[in-house]
Amino acid sequence: MKKIAVLAGDGIGPEIMAQALAVLRALDLPLAFEEALVGGAAYEAHGHPLPEATLALAQSADAVLFGAVGDWKYDVLERRLRPEQAILGLRKALGLFANLRPALCYEQLVHASSLKPELVAGLDILIIRELTGDIYFGQPRGRRTATDGHFPGTEEAFDTMRYSRPEIERIAHVAFQAARQRGRHVTSVDKNNVLETSQLWKDVVVEVHKEYPDVTLEHMLVDNAAMQLVKAPRKFDVLVTGNLFGDILSDEAAMLTGSIGMLPSASLDANNKGLYEPSHGSAPDIAGQDMANPLATILSAAMMLRYSLDLAPAAQRIEAAVQKVLEQGLRTADIWSEGCQKVGTRAMGEAVVRALG
Ligand code: IPM
Ligand code: MN
Repeated sequence: MKKIAVLAGDGIGPEIMAQALAVLRALDLPLAFEEALVGGAAYEAHGHPLPEATLALAQSADAVLFGAVGDWKYDVLERRLRPEQAILGLRKALGLFANLRPALCYEQLVHASSLKPELVAGLDILIIRELTGDIYFGQPRGRRTATDGHFPGTEEAFDTMRYSRPEIERIAHVAFQAARQRGRHVTSVDKNNVLETSQLWKDVVVEVHKEYPDVTLEHMLVDNAAMQLVKAPRKFDVLVTGNLFGDILSDEAAMLTGSIGMLPSASLDANNKGLYEPSHGSAPDIAGQDMANPLATILSAAMMLRYSLDLAPAAQRIEAAVQKVLEQGLRTADIWSEGCQKVGTRAMGEAVVRALG
């Protein structure tokens, strides 16, 4: 029996998680689910977005299935108590340094993309974002009175962008190994014309690449990458980049596919233990209305079966079922178009369960 920590979180989190669990349960796998509060929900109940018990459950589990956290009403809290700290804390505490964010354009949804169909048809990119380093976690950070710069004597804030050689090496290996399972092409994205961290990034990626002569490597500056993603997105296969650039580019890539409501993600440690979550947020504006698209969470559950639980056939069954409901014309509001049948969160989940066969 494998233990799955189920952290549904805030906003639409509980609704989409309920559907992912229904799909997993229908597969009748040797999995035990244990739920815990996280994010704003945990703050309300325990005064902290990532309570000890939740972290302990995540650490003891074989994998973590995560919904979403956050609500604007928590923006007034001091940073360490905000819901987002829960996901950042889990990434750091569990050592989840490799974030896999596929951007896949389903044939049936090609018209939902903000780009022309001919640019995105068949799009299949894997963004690999380093997740535990960079300016997200770099010390020192804080506020102080400036002693130099343009305005000495005034208040300033500062963050530190940092990367160490081993941090870059291990994410580069993940990227090259992933490329071997796909199109054998890696685009490494940085800002080496300005940043020292990016120069180290590029140097290390070039070195690691020597172990993967069967994979082609290309370097791209992040501003150009942002442009190429909307100009010719299909030229990418695996895109590997740091935490901050990856945050931004993965949202951009997600939108190319029509809906962020379709995209799963995996955050892995060195042993393929992982946290799986939809790429979208908690969408408090539509929470509790049976409107949210549960497919990203359902597909995240599939990634969990594949990467952390060695249950690839079951993962394929889920992915095929999702494909089937799209072919049947079922659409939640975010991906709906003329001629399709609009369904709610629950009906979509139930349709996937039926499509499992
Ligand atoms: C994401 C989110 C998080 C991030 C936030 C919620 C801290 O945007 O997973 O992409 O910036 O990493
Ligand atoms: Mn983000």
